[in-house]
Amino acid sequence: MSLKNDRFLKALMREAVDVTPVWMMRQAGRYLPEYRATRKQAGNFLNLCQSPELACEVTLQPLRRYAFDAAILFSDILTIPDAMGRGLYFEEGEGPRFKKVIRTAEDVEQLPEIKAAEDLSYVMDAVSLIRKELNGSVPLIGFSGSPWTLATYMIEGGGSKDFRIAKEFMYNNPEAMHLLLDKLAAAVTDYLNSQIKAGAQAIQIFDTWGGILTTSHYRSYSLAYMQKIISNLIREADGRVVPVILFTKNGGLWLESIAESGTNAVGLDWTIEIGQARERIGNSCALQGNMDPSILYASPAAIRDEVGNILESYGAGNGHVFNLGHGITPQVNPDHVSAFVDAVHELSPQYHA
Ligand code: CP3
Repeated sequence: MSLKNDRFLKALMREAVDVTPVWMMRQAGRYLPEYRATRKQAGNFLNLCQSPELACEVTLQPLRRYAFDAAILFSDILTIPDAMGRGLYFEEGEGPRFKKVIRTAEDVEQLPEIKAAEDLSYVMDAVSLIRKELNGSVPLIGFSGSPWTLATYMIEGGGSKDFRIAKEFMYNNPEAMHLLLDKLAAAVTDYLNSQIKAGAQAIQIFDTWGGILTTSHYRSYSLAYMQKIISNLIREADGRVVPVILFTKNGGLWLESIAESGTNAVGLDWTIEIGQARERIGNSCALQGNMDPSILYASPAAIRDEVGNILESYGAGNGHVFNLGHGITPQVNPDHVSAFVDAVHELSPQYHA
């Protein structure tokens, strides 16, 4: 089936578009009252992820309200460690937790291999269902966490402020850490390829915690594994390239290395000027980003100004997918999201003339 709106896929391939495409990290989430209602119906967040019908419903909710140019699968990055038997649960108001943490080389050696198509069949069922319901309106993004980011949660047992335990493990047990990352890279590759087979038309890798590493450790403990994953992904589906977006939060210092990973696009957080990022790597990769999510707390007029500033900073030409620099937060007024999306579409045609 041909896509009615493919400007997101085109921009990722640095092909010409009429207006700059836009979507938003965490676009299905707690800022939407209809999301909160569906989550209540599911009982909790994990049930929501594990029900293909309800995951499909919340994926589509933001698209009914806003003119987003892409949908993103509703799921979580921690489904992989959960399938590896780590016992994922969510403590209300405290984020994710694991019942079984990784603290020794033996823990890593005992970690089982997964077969995503079977062990995470609920994700693949959600992907197929969402594709069917989208009916070619916009493309569907599949995603995974990076091996490093998944490893931090598995070792810490949840989120962390300083990542002391994960870093201690890396510095004291480099071999075990590499084995863990190798196992996770294999699982992520299989997981993403299964999503592509089920219908995902683009892929984003969330390296949320790559930015806490030193430059050399970022290369060897995070980027190297993402590079390996990208080189083993299915590159085409339905006769089109399946583009990859690599998002390392706080990765602004390392853009040149990230751009050489084989990714089609680099996701930017808000700490870097997108025009400068384009000067550094814009001939090799598309760029995605990078409005500070907190701007959504400002007035619609201020939001529109900031969208204008970012479009102007990127400048004329192809290769920009508009997004926030990280996920939208739960307290944002849904009307401000309309101001954001509409501003991108209304202010960007002049850059594509
Ligand atoms: O972007 C989307 O709309 C797709 C859905 C999506 C979710 N999580 C839904 C979710 C995606 C892509 C993720 C990825 C994810 N999950 C990341 C990487 C992205 C990033 O933010 O950097 C991480 C680190 C996680 C792990 C995770 N899941 C955390 C830390 C939390 C708690 C967040 C919080 O604010 O409480 C979650 C839960 C989660 N994942 C929610 C949603 C909508 C909130 C759950 C709820 O209470 O309804």
